[in-house]
Amino acid sequence: MSALTGRIVVIVGGGSGIGLQLARQVVAAGALVHLGGRTAARLSAAAAELGPAATWQVVDSTEQDSLAAFFGALDRVDHLFTPGASYTVGPMRELSDEEAASPFVTKFWGQYHAVKYAAAKLSADASVVLMAGAASVRPPAAAPAYVACNAAIEGLGRGLAVELAPVRVNVVSPGTIDGNLWANRPAAVRAASFAQYRKDTLLQRVGKESEVADAVLYLFGNSYTTGSTLYPDGGYSLR
Ligand SMILES: NC(=O)c1ccc[n+]([C@@H]2O[C@H](COP(=O)([O-])OP(=O)(O)OC[C@H]3O[C@@H](n4cnc5c(N)ncnc54)[C@H](OP(=O)(O)O)[C@@H]3O)[C@@H](O)[C@H]2O)c1
Repeated sequence: MSALTGRIVVIVGGGSGIGLQLARQVVAAGALVHLGGRTAARLSAAAAELGPAATWQVVDSTEQDSLAAFFGALDRVDHLFTPGASYTVGPMRELSDEEAASPFVTKFWGQYHAVKYAAAKLSADASVVLMAGAASVRPPAAAPAYVACNAAIEGLGRGLAVELAPVRVNVVSPGTIDGNLWANRPAAVRAASFAQYRKDTLLQRVGKESEVADAVLYLFGNSYTTGSTLYPDGGYSLR
């Protein structure tokens, strides 16, 4: 028996990347996992890999009706993680206003509304982990709206921790992670970014999806931690 045995873990953005890796680890710890994302085929493949402890439903966190239907179909939520987002990153002088707003539309408001529609289903000892990014405290390149969005999510975690107590709300803010997100970027961009990150971080390597999932598991499990942000970033934010 682990503390997660029989608990219901909901992951909005659980069909790939860090969310799917967390799903693997919570299922291994005995939890039931419910995956959300926009693409049925991705969620179905993820659930097939995870086995009978996994269920899934399509949801788009930029659409409040979609979130209401997603959480309305659930009996209860014991732990919620919300990494689902899709956005454009770049300099103020190059992005359109719509592109610059996209991290806020998908990553900030998507998570805000996910928690809003989950709130009625959160059990008394539930916990929520929001996804930010260590660019919040150390911008790696010119991407001011993305940097500000991640800082805002860390503030959102503190604000929600106050409002939702005794439900705990925390934030994970990773550095560069070698996984699905970067695998889908051009090889030359990935190689240059990883090389720069190795120079910039204390541990001289990029991270693994499992290392972020481990941080989320800690925040799910530690019953006296709320309103905190953890940085699984190899020390990037210190240099
Ligand atoms: N990987 C890194 O280096 C890194 C570092 C710091 C922070 N992060 C953050 O981690 C988060 C997840 O990244 P990842 O590395 O796990 O990459 P990922 O594999 O691209 O994960 C994103 C997941 O979210 C889903 N998604 C996207 N938009 C959605 C929406 N509107 N509603 C619901 N689901 C949505 C995607 O599936 P569908 O497209 O099918 O919906 C996908 O499964 C991102 O917010 C990113 O900013 C990543």
